[in-house]
Amino acid sequence: MTSQPYRDTSLSVEARIDDLLDRMTIDEKTDQLIQIPLGADENPNNIGEGTFRPTVGSMLASRRGAAAHNAYQRIAVEDTRLGIPILFGQDVIHGCYTIFPHSIAQACSFDPELATRAARIAAREARAMGYHWTFSPMIDVARDPRWGRVVEGYGEDPYLNGVFAAAVVRGYQGDDLASRDSVAACLKHFVGYGASEGGRDYSYTDVSRRALWETYLPPYRAGVAAGAATIMSSFNDITGVPAVANHYTLTEVLRNRWGFDGFVVSDWAAVRQLAAQGLSADPRVQTKRCLEAGNEMDMTDEVYACIPDLVRTGALDESVVDEAVRRVLRIKMRMGLFENPYFDEKPADEVFLLPEYKSVAQDFAAESCVLLKNRDSALPILNSGVDSGTAGRESSSGPRVAVIGPAADDADALLGSWRCLGRAEDAMSICAGLEKRLGDAVRHARGCDYDSDDRTGFDDAVRVTENSDVAVLCLGEPSDWTGENASRASIELPGVQAELVRSVAEAARVRDVPVVLVLVGGRPLGLKQVEPQVDAIVQAWQPGTMGGAAIAAILLGNRNPSGKLAISFPRTTGNIPTYYCEHSRARPSMGLYRDVESDALFELGHGLSYTTFAYGEISLSAVEISPSDRITAVVEVRNSGACAGTETVLWYVRDPEASITQPVRRLVAFERLELSAGESARVTLDIDPAKHLSYPDFDGNQVLEPGVFIIEASRRTEKQVRLRA
Ligand code: GLC
Repeated sequence: MTSQPYRDTSLSVEARIDDLLDRMTIDEKTDQLIQIPLGADENPNNIGEGTFRPTVGSMLASRRGAAAHNAYQRIAVEDTRLGIPILFGQDVIHGCYTIFPHSIAQACSFDPELATRAARIAAREARAMGYHWTFSPMIDVARDPRWGRVVEGYGEDPYLNGVFAAAVVRGYQGDDLASRDSVAACLKHFVGYGASEGGRDYSYTDVSRRALWETYLPPYRAGVAAGAATIMSSFNDITGVPAVANHYTLTEVLRNRWGFDGFVVSDWAAVRQLAAQGLSADPRVQTKRCLEAGNEMDMTDEVYACIPDLVRTGALDESVVDEAVRRVLRIKMRMGLFENPYFDEKPADEVFLLPEYKSVAQDFAAESCVLLKNRDSALPILNSGVDSGTAGRESSSGPRVAVIGPAADDADALLGSWRCLGRAEDAMSICAGLEKRLGDAVRHARGCDYDSDDRTGFDDAVRVTENSDVAVLCLGEPSDWTGENASRASIELPGVQAELVRSVAEAARVRDVPVVLVLVGGRPLGLKQVEPQVDAIVQAWQPGTMGGAAIAAILLGNRNPSGKLAISFPRTTGNIPTYYCEHSRARPSMGLYRDVESDALFELGHGLSYTTFAYGEISLSAVEISPSDRITAVVEVRNSGACAGTETVLWYVRDPEASITQPVRRLVAFERLELSAGESARVTLDIDPAKHLSYPDFDGNQVLEPGVFIIEASRRTEKQVRLRA
């Protein structure tokens, strides 16, 4: 046995931690709870750059690379009294060098397995860059597209956020957290951040206990169950108690109800921000409140530096500090950092942007696009690549394609926010993607900027439209219009983009030229004005490094779009919030807006294909059950169109009568089906009443009540089941 049991891997992690804790001074314990910025974060909202200290628990935001981090680590491991390794963290949100579709787009793929593969690639690139820990997945349910961070989560539904939370955690952490390909995941931002008032970032959130348990906590429960190593507490004030100091969420829920045994890190300077939020400006009070609530690590503001003083004066019990340090050391030991503290140092071309990584990125980008509208089969532009018979326009010499708009040749817009080390020069724009396939049949005109009142480019846009067989408008928002601190009071198409649509549509109509709208950006936009003027709409989101190639493949028919919306599209800004699982109204057909339709323009689950799918009736193995019974629901789906396609069957439950009112429907499961033309498949849902028919009460206890429930498949067919007492 070594003279230092905490280094002895034949002992249990807890025994090793006991030994190490016994050796640590209060100053060394304090340093383990402090995270220092080692570089100016890509995020301009995070102000401050720290100086390296070899005894801190973690460093973040450095882009110096594996060799530089190893040099820092050598000092920590070899030149300090206890040699505790440092955790290097970074925001690897949707890729490190190879950038995948942003999270909201990934959710529209309804392909969690692909999200796992992408996260695994991101983990490999992150480790190669000298990171052990990523501050991802962000799983904040969000229903207000004015909030810029809507792009970072997996949409408006708690269940879908939870499925992707678990999938991404599995990708990052793999089967072995100590693997040199794994990084520690970090579920964020715990909790209720997506309820930011008015969509304004960092603001107050009025989140009832019911909303916590019904909407905002479920994704975290799934992420914790998947083994997430860490969690980040959020900036928002949860109905009077800021998340970073919230004992109910951090201890009663996370620790006591869910048994979470990793650690919680604050968000950037969130401890100090308690002053701005009106809790306390006293660092001692801030520290005591946050630590005693269950926030273990302090990101960047070093307020926790007052821990030794608090302990010495008896204002803070050292056992609270010990529990926090224990959790940090537990993750470091589970990651094997004491045995393997250093990163592999390999040439960039051996570890970043590998062909197989880019292939996965292009697949994911294609699966994340959602075909919202396709009047008269305006798409695909070509038949090439898709089974014969696909409807579409084709001329002898191939179609001349006008590609218009600010997003047409903007590769940067496809990467989105939180791109880590992703670079626009490694990405292909939509125009480049089309030119690669169509050559000089592509006519490009910018038409207008994202957000100016300059209409001087309209004539050029009209001219290329008049000389083409199809007009593709590439519109939306630039990368930095979503992400952190990117709230907008309006979700309408910015600048004069809507006017450009009108001008191009008028010119196109004269010559019966179909108009296709491709939307780039990170939030649902208000499309009430422009939707009637175009023949097809592809919601491309921010599809990542390979987005241009993927969008071209869809427009030209090499890929049949299969995405479905993970977040509803309000018709206008004034319609916010609009989401699929609203609660029933006292007078369902009254009290609606007098000036605009009140329903979503496109609702969660909407997404078209170049083929069609027919649904049979749902058959249930029983129509009356007891709580202990399990039944199966089966629905047959047939590809009733002319080309192969992928359909995601969405299973919903409606609970029309309960002691606590319920959403009009809840997504409870989904399954992707790849079907060739004419092929059918039966999709089965195993219904467990306790899991599928129960709901959380005001304190998160699952309640199962007798009564009638309606099982729906993709809003296409439904069946009733009665649950006996
Ligand atoms: C930020 C973000 C958080 C991010 C952290 C570190 O302010 O809110 O999502 O992980 O700081 O960059």
